[in-house]
Amino acid sequence: MKTIEELDQKLAKPSQKLVEDVSTLDGDILILGAGGKMGPSLAALAKNAVDESGKKRDVICVSRFSNPEHQQDLEKQGIKTIAADLMIEDDLQSLPEIKNVLYMVGFKFGSAENQSMSWAINSYLPGRVADKFKESSIVAFSTGNVYPLVDVKSGGATEAGGVGPVGEYAQSCLGRERVFEYFSRKNGTPVLNYRLNYAIDMRYGVLLEIAQNVFNGNPVNLRTGHANVIWQGDANEIAIRCLKHCSTPPTTLNVTGPETISIRWLAKEFAKRMKKEAEFVHEEEDTALLSNATRCHQIFGYPSVSLLQMIDWTVEWVENEGKTIDKPTKFQERKGDF
Ligand SMILES: NC(=O)c1ccc[n+]([C@@H]2O[C@H](COP(=O)([O-])OP(=O)(O)OC[C@H]3O[C@@H](n4cnc5c(N)ncnc54)[C@H](OP(=O)(O)O)[C@@H]3O)[C@@H](O)[C@H]2O)c1
Repeated sequence: MKTIEELDQKLAKPSQKLVEDVSTLDGDILILGAGGKMGPSLAALAKNAVDESGKKRDVICVSRFSNPEHQQDLEKQGIKTIAADLMIEDDLQSLPEIKNVLYMVGFKFGSAENQSMSWAINSYLPGRVADKFKESSIVAFSTGNVYPLVDVKSGGATEAGGVGPVGEYAQSCLGRERVFEYFSRKNGTPVLNYRLNYAIDMRYGVLLEIAQNVFNGNPVNLRTGHANVIWQGDANEIAIRCLKHCSTPPTTLNVTGPETISIRWLAKEFAKRMKKEAEFVHEEEDTALLSNATRCHQIFGYPSVSLLQMIDWTVEWVENEGKTIDKPTKFQERKGDF
């Protein structure tokens, strides 16, 4: 994995199961908040699945498109786009009524300095959107941050266990879920709260950050010594297939890979492949932000890209100075300040 073209192609290739699911969807697909790290690749995947299904359906992306390149790239692929700020009521109300909605809007980084914005985007806007799209099915992107840090020996937080968000970002994300639930119950709107833990592609994510540390000879902080990751293509595929699993009241689903990854082990795997020495600071704490996604794997199967494959690709990417997005995950954060 060396070039953006290879990466984009891999991310945009639908499985047969996705094509089958998309072919049985009733109506077009609307992606709200499509201009971020995941949206463009999710849209391309959805478009290819629609095309392979032979059905005539539109994939429509909505975002402010702070990065206009994303909008142009999507249009070039035959994906319709609408530039809109969903916090502006006229923009929201002018959107077409679409049966299948993937809601990806969120505000994380910078939320500690702008807490009211965090609550407005993450908790208030979902209510406006749920009310506007009351006749749709909605997959609402959420986060594993709604859980407390759990014992690293526990196998991760399950959907059946309690929530315990740490800090205002995580609390506002739980607010998003609760508000979607309120409107789902009130209006009978099928919803699925999709609790994601660390999607990765070559350009960003936990694996890239640890690999860069090792490559550049910087010590890896082990305090948050364990994490979950999932290949972004698998996360996107599951999100689209979740459109067929929305319910009233909402279904809740943890979405991540099967491993509780030791960060120490991960750094050593990178070091071995890069012929470097991994250096560390601090020691592993007993707790970390970890989700148990066994239910997701039961429904959709295990992710198609394995952890070792992601590690090998990340090494190639870093050694070849592949393009990266400068958006650190801050996965080591333990107090919820993002
Ligand atoms: N990536 C992960 O590993 C991960 C993990 C857990 C949860 N999540 C959640 O999953 C969702 C998608 O992830 P992501 O990494 O793609 O997030 P992201 O990079 O933050 O993308 C979300 C996008 O929403 C758009 N947006 C924000 N406010 C908007 C508004 N008022 N009107 C219209 N669009 C708006 C923004 O794009 P524009 O500025 O172009 O509009 C932004 O880039 C997010 O909610 C994220 O919090 C992601």
